[in-house]
Amino acid sequence: MIAGVLDALERCIDLVERGDTHPREDMARFAVFLKEFVQLVHYEKEESILLPALAHSGMSWDSGTLGDTHADHRMECHLIESFDAARPRVARWSAHHRRRLAGVGRSLITLLRDHMAREERSLFPAIGQRLRAGAYSDLAGSLWRFDQAREADGHVETMRQLARSLLDEYPPQSDDRDL
Ligand SMILES: [Fe+2]
Repeated sequence: MIAGVLDALERCIDLVERGDTHPREDMARFAVFLKEFVQLVHYEKEESILLPALAHSGMSWDSGTLGDTHADHRMECHLIESFDAARPRVARWSAHHRRRLAGVGRSLITLLRDHMAREERSLFPAIGQRLRAGAYSDLAGSLWRFDQAREADGHVETMRQLARSLLDEYPPQSDDRDL
């Protein structure tokens, strides 16, 4: 879901740089997804459940794979706040508004894509490598309960609908990479 929204955001930023005024309202919707799904679901699940479980297995909390993951999350949170702050609240955008928003947006997209690739490469494989059977099933149960709670209160479904509407608004172009 995050990768698809990042692709849609990239297409929206292309329009901003070309001077299109339509994405003005949509930037607020991207900001909601970034704050309420990336920060409140992705980071929260990893920082409160996954990373502590791996640290409990003996991995360093402050360095290596877990340290890199914390550092990514901190930087991404900073850039998400910067992106939200860079959204012009006025109807008429200056060239400065466009450059600032596009610059922050592209930095955030690059960082999030690199972060997800790094997690696939080194964080997620560590789960199977480091956790013994009991710890593995405890982790699986905690992650399941986390997901269930967010499904039960409708938060994840709200984010799914938002992601779908952003993808409908900014669909993949023929030369885009596969989602
Ligand atoms: Fe993460």
